[in-house]
Amino acid sequence: MISYFNGNFVPAGEIHISPDDRGFLLADGIYEVVRFYRGVPFRLEQHRRRLEAGAAALRFERCEFPEFEPVMQRLVEENRLGDEESSTVYFQVTRGVAARSHAFPPAGTAATVYAAARPFVRLQNEIDDGVAAVTVRDDRWSRCDIKSIALLPNTLAHQAAREQGAVEAIFLRDGLVQEGSHSNVLCVKNGVAHTAPLTGSVLPGITRQVVLALCRDEGIPVREEDVPDSLFRDADEIAIVGTTVEVTPVVELDGKPVGAGEPGPLVRVMQERFFAQTGVRAGNLP
Ligand code: PDD
Repeated sequence: MISYFNGNFVPAGEIHISPDDRGFLLADGIYEVVRFYRGVPFRLEQHRRRLEAGAAALRFERCEFPEFEPVMQRLVEENRLGDEESSTVYFQVTRGVAARSHAFPPAGTAATVYAAARPFVRLQNEIDDGVAAVTVRDDRWSRCDIKSIALLPNTLAHQAAREQGAVEAIFLRDGLVQEGSHSNVLCVKNGVAHTAPLTGSVLPGITRQVVLALCRDEGIPVREEDVPDSLFRDADEIAIVGTTVEVTPVVELDGKPVGAGEPGPLVRVMQERFFAQTGVRAGNLP
């Protein structure tokens, strides 16, 4: 595969990253994952804007990444991924290479920029039939709005979910539902869609934004307000949404059925409208 590293497109195996890179030593970096459908990026500009907002929040010296869109597009082309139904491109920026110190590196230290593309195969049965999720205590910091590469709580939570036969872990903080380990989450109760508000406790997901907009278009009322654990457990429908999971129904939570224990009608509407926007037909959807 051809990847991108600090201005060059090179075979992935030829990339050498310094052990003094602050991403490696301190997780001092941010990232994005963008989905391409048949070679066409989904909401590419929004991903760049979120990356730039993250760079500014972390006080990176460079907070503009005009190369983002062309690099992503070229990686899909170079690797001939345009014919795949879908692919993902990963883009990461760190504060660069410097002797290890908690203090920022000397002025003028260049950011390290890395990007790589790969085919992405949707698990169609998860989209069609729904998945199991478990809740976990949210051990993360209070700036989850930054898409930081420091993902230990997310990987530990996700692994715990996998070990219980579930595909996503949903973070609970002080009795409130926040988001998944790698997705946003929403639930439906009495025809109203509920999801956590955009505070520092959740990532402002691009998919979340798309799904909430299509809910409003469809006349489904949306509440971006605190979601108490009790409301969530009593929900008629639950879905996880994100670049990789798209719109996936959650039909079992902590071992108990959600609603009727099968994907519900409003999540089906969200799926149908979402896939219409990607331009790719998703399997057996009605
Ligand atoms: N994760 N919340 C968290 C914690 C995430 O890591 C992600 C995405 C989302 C959904 O955001 P978006 O719709 O913009 O993809 C929400 C990516 C895909 C990942 O880490 O692989």
